[in-house]
Amino acid sequence: AYPSNVRIVEVGARDGLQNEASVTTEQKISLINALSDAGLRDIEAGAFVSPKWVPQMADSAEVIKGLNVAKEVNLSALTPNLKGAEAALEVGVKEFAIFTAASEAFTQKNINCSISDSIERFKPVVELAKANGVKVRGYVSCVLGCPYQGEVEPDVVLDVCKQLLAMGCYEVSLGDTIGVGTPNKVQALLTLLLEHISADKLAVHFHDTYGQALANISKALEMGIATIDSAVAGLGGCPYAKGASGNVATEDVVYLLQGLGINPQIDLERLAKAGWAICEALNKQPVSKVSLALQAKC
Ligand code: HMG
Ligand code: MG
Repeated sequence: AYPSNVRIVEVGARDGLQNEASVTTEQKISLINALSDAGLRDIEAGAFVSPKWVPQMADSAEVIKGLNVAKEVNLSALTPNLKGAEAALEVGVKEFAIFTAASEAFTQKNINCSISDSIERFKPVVELAKANGVKVRGYVSCVLGCPYQGEVEPDVVLDVCKQLLAMGCYEVSLGDTIGVGTPNKVQALLTLLLEHISADKLAVHFHDTYGQALANISKALEMGIATIDSAVAGLGGCPYAKGASGNVATEDVVYLLQGLGINPQIDLERLAKAGWAICEALNKQPVSKVSLALQAKC
């Protein structure tokens, strides 16, 4: 059976815009405010990462300080180390996201250390969070394949998930960073993970590079996963995963959930408008079939 309540974690302002050089701070603020107006309640607003590595996220503090979102909105940000966590805390971020991978090669390229060193680096981040009443979310990238090493063993994914949960993450988001997964692979991975981890501690984070994200989400929902990461207008990619396209579009996920009778309390029209506005700034069209269909109707 499908879960009756599904939570969407909107990652467009971070996962989407981390790849886009030309977006101003004001445009980011407008996007996040519009996402809040559309009803999104979990919004990843930026990344406190090294500006030398990802210059696109260098204004995350300014963005967060400038927001005017509904008070129920849970704003989160990537915090790869203590420096990032301290900067996020300073602007009032109430949820940190730490991120590693199930692939050594990807972890090295992405955060310049091994998987086990990344876990060590996260310890003071989690301590700072605990001392300040901040929640911590964990990400595991490359759960269904790696751009550098290819196949990734589900056992490795399980091991990394367990470590993140044991250190205090309330949830782990499973990233198909390069969008290579198919529903049978999702099923095999989740079957293993759910033997050890309860469904309410897992989220899925699918990129749509090969057009499989909605099929994969449908499979994950069927298996009881009730938190889905997505990006308005299908924005995104990953600077350390060449060729990876955006996250599954939030508009498409909302449409799917509505069709399944799971009402996610999101105003689809407003959401699509938020997507068109940011895409105008990027000089491109949304990568969302639903958004294009809605536009065609008016
Ligand atoms: P490093 O170079 O190994 O770190 O980077 P370091 O500690 O040696 O520091 C080097 C310099 O960076 C120093 O400055 C530090 O102060 C500075 P310098 O002395 O040379 O002037 N620095 C920082 N500045 C600002 N904020 C910080 C920070 N930390 C160090 N937090 C580090 C290690 C992790 C920082 C770096 O590799 C990094 O920032 N990586 C970011 C990678 C990233 O953002 N990737 C994209 C997000 S992950 C993703 O997209 C996947 C996901 O969506 C899930 C999925 O799809 O799978 C989440
Ligand atoms: Mg991602």
